[in-house]
Amino acid sequence: TYEKEIDSILNLMTLEEKLGQLNLPSSGDITTGQAKSSNIAKLIEEGKVGGLFNIKSAEKIVEVQKIAVDKSRLHIPLLFGMDVIHGYQTTFPIPLGLSSSWDMEMIEQTARVAAQEASADGINWTFSPMVDISRDPRWGRVSEGNGEDVYLGGEIAKAMVRGYQGDDLTKENTILSCVKHFALYGAVEAGRDYNTVDMSKIRMYNEYLPPYKAAIDAGAASVMASFNEIDGIPATGNHWLLTDLLRNDWGFDGFVVTDYTGIPEMIAHGMGDLQTVSALALRAGVDMDMVGEGFLTTIKKSLDEGKVTMKEIDLAVKRILDAKYKLGLFDDPYKYCDVNRAKSEVFTKENRDFARKVGAASTVLLKNDEQVLPLKKSGTIALVGPLANNAVNMAGTWSVATVQENSVTLFDGLKEVAGDNVKVLYAKGSNLSYNKEFETNATMFGKAIPRDGRTDKQLLDEALAIAKNSDVIVAALGESAEMSGESSSRTNPEIPKVQKDLLQALLKTGKPVVLVLFTGRPLIMQEEDKTVPTILNVWFPGSEAGLSIADVLFGDVNPSGKLTATFPRNVGQIPLFYNHKNTGRPLLNTEGKFEKFRSNYLDVRNEALYPFGYGLSYTTFSYKNMTISSDEMTMDGTLEVSVDITNTGKYDGKEVVQLYTRDLVGSVTRPVKELKGFQKVFIKKGETKKVTFTLSAEDLKFYNYNLDYVAEPGAFKVFVGTNSNTQMSKSFELLK
Ligand code: IFM
Repeated sequence: TYEKEIDSILNLMTLEEKLGQLNLPSSGDITTGQAKSSNIAKLIEEGKVGGLFNIKSAEKIVEVQKIAVDKSRLHIPLLFGMDVIHGYQTTFPIPLGLSSSWDMEMIEQTARVAAQEASADGINWTFSPMVDISRDPRWGRVSEGNGEDVYLGGEIAKAMVRGYQGDDLTKENTILSCVKHFALYGAVEAGRDYNTVDMSKIRMYNEYLPPYKAAIDAGAASVMASFNEIDGIPATGNHWLLTDLLRNDWGFDGFVVTDYTGIPEMIAHGMGDLQTVSALALRAGVDMDMVGEGFLTTIKKSLDEGKVTMKEIDLAVKRILDAKYKLGLFDDPYKYCDVNRAKSEVFTKENRDFARKVGAASTVLLKNDEQVLPLKKSGTIALVGPLANNAVNMAGTWSVATVQENSVTLFDGLKEVAGDNVKVLYAKGSNLSYNKEFETNATMFGKAIPRDGRTDKQLLDEALAIAKNSDVIVAALGESAEMSGESSSRTNPEIPKVQKDLLQALLKTGKPVVLVLFTGRPLIMQEEDKTVPTILNVWFPGSEAGLSIADVLFGDVNPSGKLTATFPRNVGQIPLFYNHKNTGRPLLNTEGKFEKFRSNYLDVRNEALYPFGYGLSYTTFSYKNMTISSDEMTMDGTLEVSVDITNTGKYDGKEVVQLYTRDLVGSVTRPVKELKGFQKVFIKKGETKKVTFTLSAEDLKFYNYNLDYVAEPGAFKVFVGTNSNTQMSKSFELLK
């Protein structure tokens, strides 16, 4: 649509200026407010920068944009990107937490609020949504994604893109989204970050690619190439991935950016020197080079040597200019830098109230055996744990724009929600871990939980002393924010030992203990599952964390989150996921008992500790009267599946009703269950609601051996239930 305008700019551009548009350097000293005197400023003046990222504040951004617009020869405005991953300054739960809400409207609204705040403060491009499917809790970046399911992942991808981009990108409160990390980054071997990925095409197409495609179909304006290799070629230099699949098959017409230094990293991958890998990336379909400066420094030489063409360079430049046109930056380069908007639209009371709700809706009640929850608003609570009174860890990883110190601690949240009849005593109880080195390694953004000067024994004694004088103990334990996220892989993803010891000591007091679990990943929790009757998983709830958690603890909000990633029993089971294949030797017994010469382990049963889709409520729901409108479905017909759900407990509550199918016979092997639908319904106590799903052949499609997307006639099962373990099912036949 902007072809003419773009062509006329292109005609004026020198080669250096063209390569400049493809350059996304790190903002360097600009982040500290030195715009005018910095090296980057000089580069911008020379037309050698296309955009910058992770600069916070409209004031700083105006200053930098002015250099581009007033001082560079062609006055081309810059893009300003940021990792606005789960909110801007008002911070929502980490994406894995957000996905546990299964509430698409709410998720879309979090992205809308994020775009509203970010765009008010100068940002016009976010590096989100991250839609990498992962089945490996060792990988720290599971925290940034939506769990293990490809269907749910696709629904969330669409909701996020809609939220960021709205229906009109030229509006001042919408921003470009960037779907990442393309592709398969969540399948790194052994969960070690930046590691190799190797996967069959059939698995790729069925189990990993659909959420990226969903984001593209929803109109995502940009794509970030991942660090890993695919079929032996790093994504950043992979022509099949970035051109054949993304552009030719999927019809993507936005721009592709590398991840941070993705181009030079191909040298270490073993793909050649900087000139070679830069040319490889450009020819593969990369348009913008994040920090690598490979394009800026080597493409001219490659052009002279005939290794890339001017057409390839122009195509990339056009895509960047097109994005700037789409945003309306050529009409008004400062449209995202309204300092007054920043003052009145960022971290508002309204947005924070919303974040409080979202934080509560994302919690997952893992156990409540003795109905200790909800807590009464009377008596004395002993609040214990290194995460109980620690603001800087509440927002979780990748919260670049968050003012960490402003987050509400659990201590403050509890006191506020409890009211005057509750006495809240606090003790830290322990450090984060016994291992100082481990703690230091886990502080990407330098937000460590300060180590206490006191000995472990002194900390514990203080905790036991307040526990003695309380009616109930709330133990706030788990990971610190940076123990998950980028570069935070763990071979032993458990609650750190010192905190486990603290927890066991608290249990020994005989007082009821509520474990409030902070985590950015599924943790290994066998010991806690056995010994702690009450566990509320809160992930990292965001800027209003303490209030969100307290709302749930006191029952002002009934928890309704469900896991989107399996919690394995032990590390040896990884990867463990609900939609696995049956194998030729599945277990024959339904109790999970060991069977020789079948597919299982000598030392642990196959099932998860907490399966995909699992989560409790303060009330109970019973499922009855599953019906199916017919036991046959034609290729162009539909089928209705209904079930009656009764709230049989004492509280009103929300239930995430899940629908799964199984394709019993196929031309290739098919998973034992696949999520195909879900509805989050509110049911008053005592009330029954009928929930109905409509299935069509489209829902039963998959990629076959030739990678054709087909529904195959034959026998199917359809399941409904409260989590992926459900056995409530009906059979039907898909007719030819
Ligand atoms: O967007 C991120 C990406 O997820 C990891 N590497 C750095 C990028 C920009 O900050």
